[in-house]
Amino acid sequence: MTDYTHDSDREVIMDPNPKIAQKTPFVVDEKAGKYAWCSCGKTENQPYCDGSHKADGLCRPMTIELEADKKVAWCGCKHTKNQPFCDGSHKDLG
Ligand code: FES
Repeated sequence: MTDYTHDSDREVIMDPNPKIAQKTPFVVDEKAGKYAWCSCGKTENQPYCDGSHKADGLCRPMTIELEADKKVAWCGCKHTKNQPFCDGSHKDLG
């Protein structure tokens, strides 16, 4: 059972060569509500989208809505296969 939803009409489009923001997740105690996770790595407001992806148009953020307050491990390396959450992929980046 998931405790979040995302707009399936607006699938995340990953940057083919995302900037690695950091090789650890951003672990944050989040409040219930909507979030836009940066998938390109270029935002100045990690781990959230600040619109920087619009400069090259290769990707867009993933928007989700947390149904309750929750500790979230947002992917920081942008290589996760479980967007927007850390899946440990940063360990394979060398
Ligand atoms: S997806 Fe990275 S700034 Fe928007």
